Amino acid sequence: MIQFHPTLLLSQLTSKQVSRCVVDGLSLLLAVDSAGQVFAFENNCSHADKPLERGVWNPDTHEMICPYHRAIFDVARGGSVKVGPAFVALQVFPTEIRDFQGEKTVFVGLSNED
Ligand code: FES
Repeated sequence: MIQFHPTLLLSQLTSKQVSRCVVDGLSLLLAVDSAGQVFAFENNCSHADKPLERGVWNPDTHEMICPYHRAIFDVARGGSVKVGPAFVALQVFPTEIRDFQGEKTVFVGLSNED
């Protein structure tokens, strides 16, 4: 079962860069595309277990480029690898924008099953 958790305010996000948050002990990145859609994905490159937060986000193509060895992930296609050296997809999580304490807030869905 998916449980949605409040993260950052929608107004805190920009399409120019990703924003980091921690949900249930998990380091995640939030990214907004050119159309205003919000994506959430793990802050970890599958190639060498490094954080992605200083990578480059492209809001038009949904590509996230790892800052270490330049692997490219397609966040809009399930985090799939477009360019190696990584070969395992990023984990992408569902998002919803909800009113929370009077502010539009990004909620991220995590499975509460082990
Ligand atoms: S750590 Fe990301 S491509 Fe190597």
